[in-house]
Amino acid sequence: AAPLLAATPPMGWNDWAHYQCGITEQTITGNADALVSSGLAAKGYTTVTVDDCWMAGSRDSAGNLVADPVKFPHGMAWLGAYLHGKGLKFGIYEDAGSSTCGGYPGSGRPQGGGADHFVQDAASFAAWGVDYLKLDGCNVYVAAGQSQEAAYRQAYDAQAAALAGSGRAITFSESAPAYFQSGEWGSPSWFSVLGWVGQDGQLWREGYDIATFDASRPNTSRWSSVLSNYGYNRWIGRYAKPGNWNDPDFLIAGDGGLSDEESRSQVALWSMMAAPMILSSNVAQLTPAGLAALGNTDLIALDQDSLGRQASVASSNASTDVLVRPLANGDRAVAVLNRSASAAALSVPLADAGLANCTVTAKNLWTGAGSTVSSALTATVPAHGTAVWRLTPNGCAAAVPTGQLTGNGAKC
Ligand code: GLA
Repeated sequence: AAPLLAATPPMGWNDWAHYQCGITEQTITGNADALVSSGLAAKGYTTVTVDDCWMAGSRDSAGNLVADPVKFPHGMAWLGAYLHGKGLKFGIYEDAGSSTCGGYPGSGRPQGGGADHFVQDAASFAAWGVDYLKLDGCNVYVAAGQSQEAAYRQAYDAQAAALAGSGRAITFSESAPAYFQSGEWGSPSWFSVLGWVGQDGQLWREGYDIATFDASRPNTSRWSSVLSNYGYNRWIGRYAKPGNWNDPDFLIAGDGGLSDEESRSQVALWSMMAAPMILSSNVAQLTPAGLAALGNTDLIALDQDSLGRQASVASSNASTDVLVRPLANGDRAVAVLNRSASAAALSVPLADAGLANCTVTAKNLWTGAGSTVSSALTATVPAHGTAVWRLTPNGCAAAVPTGQLTGNGAKC
């Protein structure tokens, strides 16, 4: 059997949240170089994805996609070779509809019906050395009498088949569920779509875009978008497993618009949720605190844990969430988010982590300090901060009730 693609959550960089359509070849190569020089690439941030607006406005006379000749004068095969030469992987953006969200040629069926381009475009991607495809879901054609969900499924199934036949191992990021999210816990069709995307690909955007960078407006909306995307994603851990990951969108930690504490929180929460760790920022200008959080090897190890279990919500109220995540070696990770505007002294009974009657060694993943704990974890958590520990049970593994950690579909 072929090796499992994305056995752990993909890590890397994407241009969108910082640059939107304002990209050129240098935007991509410059950030790729910065991933390497910052040390982030060596820590696993290796998939570099060119998002929307890389294409010329129309296909060539043979129907092939072509790169914008001004923005990408050397073409996409050259870019793929450049990234591979740096030890990185090459990701690209397309769309399951007739055109991308930015209005460029899509791989899907034209409006009104007709033939799609999934096989032809997958062949182009394979020829260019693409390793990762983000397939967005704008402008998907819905035939008369067809449900919206059926139209999306037809398109994403077709892309999956085209990738499988392309002769190249290409990780498939699907945006389909994001087009079905509505209401606090999602619509019935959102859950239905979440139920099949894992058969087609390895990760999927499940909701709204994280707020984009705006240098002219130091903006608090970035933190609220982090909380909002976290707010949905925390409940859908039952869809995650090795080779299948919920994607709450980009890491914007360190990119401006988040405080240092908020940047640390985003990295901690994404790590707890086994989320893809895809930076979308100007890598050369990350804040020191953001760079340190993104490069925290204990958090990266949580995110990339081979058991592949997303954290469950052990408790939640207006100001505080407690997340618990079992890990492959029998350890548990516990995180406490303080949403409130002031620091809070918080206490998490070990029983809430499924570790009643245990003594554990608790490593604080921000300070690296270890301590022995037998009743409750305690911390003063700053406003908008997240405390996070890795717990190693001391001689009580047999008493660990794992069953209670699997119920995070309960809100559905
Ligand atoms: C959608 C996606 C974004 C980005 C843009 C590009 O909004 O959710 O991540 O790809 O399209 O147009």
